[in-house]
Amino acid sequence: MDDLTNEQILEILSDAERLLPVARGELYLPLLKGRILGNLFFEPSTRTRMSFETAMKRLGGDVVNLGDVKTSSVVKGETLFDTIQMVDGYTDIIAMRHPRQGAAQYAQDAAQVPILNGGDGAGHHPTQTMLDLFTIQQAHGRLDGLKVVLAGDLRYGRTVHSLSHALVRFGCDLVFASPDLLRMPEEIVSDLRAHGANVVETEDLYGSMAEADVVYMTRIQKERFADEDEYARCAGAYKLHARHLADMKQDMIVMHPLPRVDEIDPSVDVTRHARYFEQAFNGVVARMALLCRLLGVKVPADVLAEGGAL
Ligand code: NCD
Repeated sequence: MDDLTNEQILEILSDAERLLPVARGELYLPLLKGRILGNLFFEPSTRTRMSFETAMKRLGGDVVNLGDVKTSSVVKGETLFDTIQMVDGYTDIIAMRHPRQGAAQYAQDAAQVPILNGGDGAGHHPTQTMLDLFTIQQAHGRLDGLKVVLAGDLRYGRTVHSLSHALVRFGCDLVFASPDLLRMPEEIVSDLRAHGANVVETEDLYGSMAEADVVYMTRIQKERFADEDEYARCAGAYKLHARHLADMKQDMIVMHPLPRVDEIDPSVDVTRHARYFEQAFNGVVARMALLCRLLGVKVPADVLAEGGAL
């Protein structure tokens, strides 16, 4: 997120908004014709990988995939540095997910083409933050001055690391609701406070939601625990049910980067508050806007006039 100013973030969100008809398949606009995205996912992914691919293809571009890590040269012992140097020659831009924190930054040092971090271990997930911000702006018409509750696994959850940073820059008040073991890392909390953030930490999720504009739930990141007993102690810590939402603000939205396990009961899906499936769809426009920007392609002011029928 540090690579973008607030003004640039807002420009990207505005580009994303104009690209909605293209993402929905209502309009053909091949802005990225002839360009190739390299999808390098060294960790499981459904939404991030597929929405990058959808974004590229809806804009007339193409995608090459690393595919299953087990059938790639990674199993022969190829270093990340070598893999990146090589894919750099095949592609115009790379989206990458890796279990190691800092891997995307490391990859950028090996590549000439831009690298988009699609999640680096328990580190960051900035392209998710762009679609999260888009979803919040769509619901509330603004980003500034909102009260946002971030709940669940704040220790290992990379989406909330990137998102909290961005929200503080837009002047939001944050509540971090988590079991003690899964608190937001101390260095992130102190960094946010040093930037003037109003941050409250609590274990009481349900008691902290009354004034919230956004409740952002997350999955307990089972795969990051060194100790299975520790996971067992935190699993199922929060289970948001429709009955918890009765006294909420009318326009409060419930978000989740997905996949969910049991932290949001399906009863919430049919309430006015649920936004997580729209949020996942917004991954396409947010990533379209990012791909255009990093490939130096301007999104036209009047997309409808520029686009053609499918
Ligand atoms: C998240 C991730 O991979 O960090 N998923 C996603 O990209 N939508 C959240 C998660 O896996 O819990």
